Amino acid sequence: MSSNAELKLDGKTYSLPTLIGTEGERAVDISQLRAQSGHITLDEGYGNTGACKSKITFIDGDLGILRYRGIPIEELAEKSTFVEVAHLLIMGKLPNSAELKRFSDLLTQNELLHEDLKHNFEGFPRHAHPMAILSSMINAVSCFYPELLDTSMHKNHFEIEAARLISQVRTIAAFAYRKSHGLPINYPKPALKYTANFLHMMFSKPYEEYPLDPEVVRALDLIFLLHADHEQNCSTSTVRMVASSKANMFASCAAGVCALWGPLHGGANQAVLEMLGEIHASGDDGCKFINAAKDKNSGKKLMGFGHRVYKNYDPRAKIIKKACDEVLAKLKINDPLLDIAKKLEEAALKESYFIERKLYPNVDFYSGIIMRALGIPLEMFTVIFAIGRMPGWIANYREVMEEPAGRISRPRQVYVGPVNQQYVPIKERK
Ligand code: COA
Repeated sequence: MSSNAELKLDGKTYSLPTLIGTEGERAVDISQLRAQSGHITLDEGYGNTGACKSKITFIDGDLGILRYRGIPIEELAEKSTFVEVAHLLIMGKLPNSAELKRFSDLLTQNELLHEDLKHNFEGFPRHAHPMAILSSMINAVSCFYPELLDTSMHKNHFEIEAARLISQVRTIAAFAYRKSHGLPINYPKPALKYTANFLHMMFSKPYEEYPLDPEVVRALDLIFLLHADHEQNCSTSTVRMVASSKANMFASCAAGVCALWGPLHGGANQAVLEMLGEIHASGDDGCKFINAAKDKNSGKKLMGFGHRVYKNYDPRAKIIKKACDEVLAKLKINDPLLDIAKKLEEAALKESYFIERKLYPNVDFYSGIIMRALGIPLEMFTVIFAIGRMPGWIANYREVMEEPAGRISRPRQVYVGPVNQQYVPIKERK
């Protein structure tokens, strides 16, 4: 049972409604506060602001819980696949056999890019970062589907657009990789499943098909699945923000790719490997780096550690760490960077600096080591994250577009700049 909160401001008392989510999350609804009192709330970085109500993903950061549509991530990681999870997130339910077949068929039917898009790939310089190519190409793809401008969310139309985006983002990513290495592109093969097809497009040679080891396919599928959604993070909030203006799905998700790129978000998996490589090259076993990460003046952070929401072990990190051990053992890879990562983790978890701040490994700490073992180059790590996150972005896009009130997202600010100034002609300026 929720009760109202009372707020005293300038001698007046305001009654603010409260609400409780299905998992007991409690919120004070301040949406009428400015109209009633002239005050806004200030929450830089949104650490304490609920921007929406959502039915997609639940996280309890203190307990280390993550659930997609109510299903624990551990169960999905063990029993499900990325495509099934994409259906779960976007359509709101696990698919039955017929639904899964329909969704998989839609992915296959929409996997090819328009041939004319090849010209766009040719326009990028050889060493363009694939995240730049990915975001540009998602928007470029939309130019070939004028029907995308219809954002009415008609069921059939929406499903085709969602499948097209999920399927083509994988094709774009593989083409971007081939382009950046000066290799001929590999077209998708309709007979292959989603993740196997991606590995084929990435690594098959004109004279030799990429051998699809089921454990390698499963490891990459797991990485996609674990990244599929994560509540209102920076990129998902960006997607929702853009969607609130009624922009189309491709435009909204291309914005998500840009937000994901930064090293404090999706770029962290690349940053982790760079950090481990740097530690290895310097001959440090991790101890010196830990000390630097504790020192605010060093400019170093222990990448892959800490999280805005998790103040406990990220449940995805536990799953990835186990998968990492299994994949490396299966591929008979002895990676010194994995040894350094384990030492860093062990040392950090004993350090008061990290304990007091509740800094634990996040999903990025071990995912890069798996990707490296699969032969995925460093600059593609964040792209892999983006492919995985696409279903989550689309699910959130859908939620925004189907919101009956449908108001544009438009935060306010506390202005702290100069007060009313006069224009000074250029000759008189100092
Ligand atoms: N290494 C060292 N110190 C860290 C740290 C890290 N990885 N992450 C956070 N801290 C410190 C902060 O400096 C701060 O210290 P202070 O209280 O003495 O000022 C404290 O821990 C709290 O961190 P804060 O910056 O408030 O966390 P945040 O919620 O704003 O940021 C991250 C969360 C994820 C951006 C941050 O932990 C980070 O940069 N981690 C490394 C990048 C990364 O792995 N990102 C992937 C996220 S999935």
